[in-house]
Amino acid sequence: MNWFTNTLWTSVGKKLLMAVTGLFFCVFLALHLVGNLTIYAGKDAFNSYAEHLHSLGPLLTAAEWGMLLFALIHICTGLLLFYQNFTARPERYAVNKRAGGRTLGSATMPYTGVILLLFVIYHLFNFHFVDKTHTTIFQIVSTAFSKPSYVVIYTFAMIVAAVHVSHGFWSAFQTLGANHPKYTPFLKGLSLVFSLIVGIGFGFIPIYVSLLV
Ligand code: HEM
Repeated sequence: MNWFTNTLWTSVGKKLLMAVTGLFFCVFLALHLVGNLTIYAGKDAFNSYAEHLHSLGPLLTAAEWGMLLFALIHICTGLLLFYQNFTARPERYAVNKRAGGRTLGSATMPYTGVILLLFVIYHLFNFHFVDKTHTTIFQIVSTAFSKPSYVVIYTFAMIVAAVHVSHGFWSAFQTLGANHPKYTPFLKGLSLVFSLIVGIGFGFIPIYVSLLV
């Protein structure tokens, strides 16, 4: 067991933790998007999706605690790696060489990560930690998106999410060993497609709902 904890404490170990937890959140994002897309089928479909989700009871609670644990690991490890990279390079280089080249996504990972963390806290207080006894989830979402400030914040956050996953997705595969001239271009393409699906798929929902109300 000691080798396991020792490995996790190395920088490779920390990157592995980031990759595994990051890919877990990519799966969560894909499932969350599929659920949210039911809003296009109308309020009954969206409410029924939320009811089905809540009918999972203890399973949902377990998934939520698991997600919180993974989020803590992802955020703390990410901040630690950022701090270690920062202190390891006292003089700033004009060009920061990363495998795969410097892209908007790779250059902004820590910043988009922090914005996403703030967004998720805001988001949970908007839609999750609210009294749902005399209302429906559709009502809560449509009341929020009737306010232009919510639409702007959500749309901006979805662009940030897309930029974050555009690098995180393929970088996670690279950390897990899929670093091969044959697979890298495919994974980069897949990463771009996934980030566009996240950005456009989530980003259009606030705009669509605001046009309904
Ligand atoms: C337009 C975009 C989005 C909409 C409309 C939306 C909608 C919702 C709704 C309605 C819930 C509450 C479900 C319930 O408790 O019944 C929820 C929960 C949640 N959302 Fe989103 N979401 C969006 C984007 C995102 C994004 C981009 C993330 C992550 C970066 C995210 C993370 C979460 C999390 C972690 C929960 C709590 C899940 C749970 O504990 O059940 N959401 N979302």
